[in-house]
Amino acid sequence: MTVMPADLSGIDVRAEIERLRKERNAVILAHYYQKPELQDLADFVGDSLELSRKAAETDAEVIAFCGVKFMADTAKILSPNKIVVLPDLNAGCSLEDSCPPEKFKAFREAHPDHIALTYINCSTEVKALSDVIVTSSSAETILQQIPLDQKIIFGPDRHLGGYLARKFNREMLLWPGVCIVHEAFSETELLKLRAQHPNAPIAAHPECPPHIVDHADYVGSTSGILQYAKTIPGDTLIVATEPHIIHQMQLAIPDKTFIGAPGADGNCNCNICPYMALNNVEKLYLSLRDLSPRVEIEEPLRLAAKKSLDRMLEMASGTVGKGDLGAR
Ligand code: 13P
Ligand code: SF4
Repeated sequence: MTVMPADLSGIDVRAEIERLRKERNAVILAHYYQKPELQDLADFVGDSLELSRKAAETDAEVIAFCGVKFMADTAKILSPNKIVVLPDLNAGCSLEDSCPPEKFKAFREAHPDHIALTYINCSTEVKALSDVIVTSSSAETILQQIPLDQKIIFGPDRHLGGYLARKFNREMLLWPGVCIVHEAFSETELLKLRAQHPNAPIAAHPECPPHIVDHADYVGSTSGILQYAKTIPGDTLIVATEPHIIHQMQLAIPDKTFIGAPGADGNCNCNICPYMALNNVEKLYLSLRDLSPRVEIEEPLRLAAKKSLDRMLEMASGTVGKGDLGAR
């Protein structure tokens, strides 16, 4: 079925978003990888953990989620009584796609003495098959609470899992998924850029492959990279993550220069997330006007997935004691 674009001529879309936000008692949440105009319209911009916390805490009746599907699903799992809309329901994620639930289930069953520590970038079904969810900002804190003799499956991002395994010297069985955006950075082009800016540090997201992360002065989540940007001594930072985060850096530190790390041809748009880019201001307006497309999750599946997410929220604030996790 071909969906015709709505005719919005003559409509002041931004004024309508303001009106609908109040009328519907809606909160607009946006990830740092969203287009700047969506970040500017949002009530809150954050990383995956911060957005999950906001979704769990909000007393708004509607959550308009400017992000990708697994993020809006997470909001619905944590806030089932709210209406959760995603401006474009096709906003997926290569990591989620890499990990079909039936294959993940078979992998778990083949390793019954392992727990599944799973990156939040996965489907609700995979969350339901997992023991603890992590985000890039909570993964280190959570991993350190898991006993050293506990065997671990980490999925679906093999680069984040590999980074954690190297940093904490822990063996983990890694699911072979990757983020197509972070996979696209070029080591050769990064080194050429560093040669042009020898005093500029490099900040990289742990979804980047080792040949990028190994050159980084700082490795962390989007919010971590944003904090790091505020502390750099010089005037320039090279940023190896989705480049829309640079908008928040420019707002917070307008006198510094932020350069997005290059892709293979040195000058491509291949590190703009094509899924995040599906959302725009017009679709946000329509989602608030029509309260659609909505995220809906069957209650038994939601409750199963909530267990691993609740564990993440508890462990991310260090409230679960060591040794709390056992193999399934
Ligand atoms: P964080 O914002 O949690 O660092 O996640 C990055 C990401 O790839 C989201 O899709
Ligand atoms: Fe998924 Fe990568 Fe896009 Fe994040 S940036 S939503 S991990 S494809």
